[in-house]
Amino acid sequence: MKLGPRSLVFRAMATIAFCLLNIASAFGQAAPAKQLMSEQAFKNVTVLKGIPVDEFMDTMGFIAASTNYNCIDCHVEPKVEGDWSVYAQETPRKAIARRMILMVETINKTNFGGARVVTCYTCHRNLQGAPKITPSLRDQYSVPPDPDPNEVEITQQAPEAPSANQVFDKYLQAVGGAQKAAAITSIVFKGTYQGYAEVKAPVEIYVKAPNQRTMIVHTDGGDRTTTCDGSNGWMAAPATDKPFPVIRYSNGDLDGVRLDAVLSLPAGIKQAITKPLVGSSSIDDKDTVVVQGTVNGGRSSVKLYFDKKSGLLVRQVRYADTMIGRVPIQVDYSDYRDVVGVGVKLPFHVITTWTDGRSDVLLTSAETNVPIDAARFNQPPPPAPPKQ
Ligand code: HEC
Ligand code: HEC
Repeated sequence: MKLGPRSLVFRAMATIAFCLLNIASAFGQAAPAKQLMSEQAFKNVTVLKGIPVDEFMDTMGFIAASTNYNCIDCHVEPKVEGDWSVYAQETPRKAIARRMILMVETINKTNFGGARVVTCYTCHRNLQGAPKITPSLRDQYSVPPDPDPNEVEITQQAPEAPSANQVFDKYLQAVGGAQKAAAITSIVFKGTYQGYAEVKAPVEIYVKAPNQRTMIVHTDGGDRTTTCDGSNGWMAAPATDKPFPVIRYSNGDLDGVRLDAVLSLPAGIKQAITKPLVGSSSIDDKDTVVVQGTVNGGRSSVKLYFDKKSGLLVRQVRYADTMIGRVPIQVDYSDYRDVVGVGVKLPFHVITTWTDGRSDVLLTSAETNVPIDAARFNQPPPPAPPKQ
């Protein structure tokens, strides 16, 4: 995907204005209390019905990533930043996309027993306009690109591969030993967060074993907070970022924030996934051992990539399922450093990439085993309006 132009459009939207914050907040009052379905939360949804708001937004990301269109290639560009109401307006391309959603449903129903075999990406392949219809001789006779390590699928344990437990033990050894890792029960990170084409903003991350995590990014437009209390998850963000001030995570997104919480402390590794299978791959010419498994009783699938030599966790790839396709999310961990006083190494550089954005987090400090107020992991409040 060409991340550049799309995300620049996101940012362009993000510099117009904030006036409609009130409308968005009015919308949002009801959102956190109970899980609003797409057709209740939005004004003009006719096919992507019966799904929670976060999953609806994931489908938009999936469509954008499959067709390489920006949000405003299909939607009317908001005149005022944060005005989500214009998204309800009809446009010719939006009408085609809606017809396509129904077409794909029919293809899968009539040919594949309703299994989601064909998606937007099957035909559109991240190319704008109509899909290609004639084979390219140039492509046929040129060297194919290296396989994408994210696409490795392990369907059975490779005979020569170590067990998942051995991979996890090697990782725990590499960070300083299982015992030392288990001695960390909470941690507070500080550092910087940079969204794609955004300026760096201060970030704080609060983690409590085994599965609570809150990240607060202090952007100029207001705080962006992601929280997991162990069983629920939320995102609070300014109207320039999200259609509602507080969005409750559901299904795949909830599994994802919980996994991020569990993996924030190395001792959680053995509880992170179930039904693990081990295979191999390579990332940038470095051999990796891949542990593929599921979370939440098989609802979401996850792959963890460990550097074959060092044993350290270098990547997580997870998938949030939506009614039209799986949305991939990739987290890259690097710059493992000793945390002062505990003899455990943690990654101080974390890059997260998803269908409509990327964040680059550089940590500068980590304080372990400090008490964290339990309220930190409660549902976050709507962000305060930005200072004018
Ligand atoms: C290829 C075209 C296409 C792209 C790209 C696209 N959308 Fe949509 N969007 C649609 C269609 C179609 C609907 C209506 C779906 C339905 O009727 O079920 C929709 C509906 C919406 C709605 C609901 C509006 C309302 O109140 O009814 C929102 C919000 C939205 N899109 C946001 C986005 C965002 C944000 C992006 C960029 C990440 C995006 N869309 C990218 C086609 C698109
Ligand atoms: C089986 C192949 C196939 C699948 C799957 C498919 N499309 Fe298409 N799509 C096409 C074809 C072919 C065209 C061009 C039609 C034409 O030129 O009249 C097209 C055109 C479009 C266009 C208009 C492009 C433009 O700029 O003119 C959009 C938007 C679109 N599709 C969105 C989607 C979405 C969203 C999905 C998934 C829900 C999807 N398509 C799934 C084959 C497919």
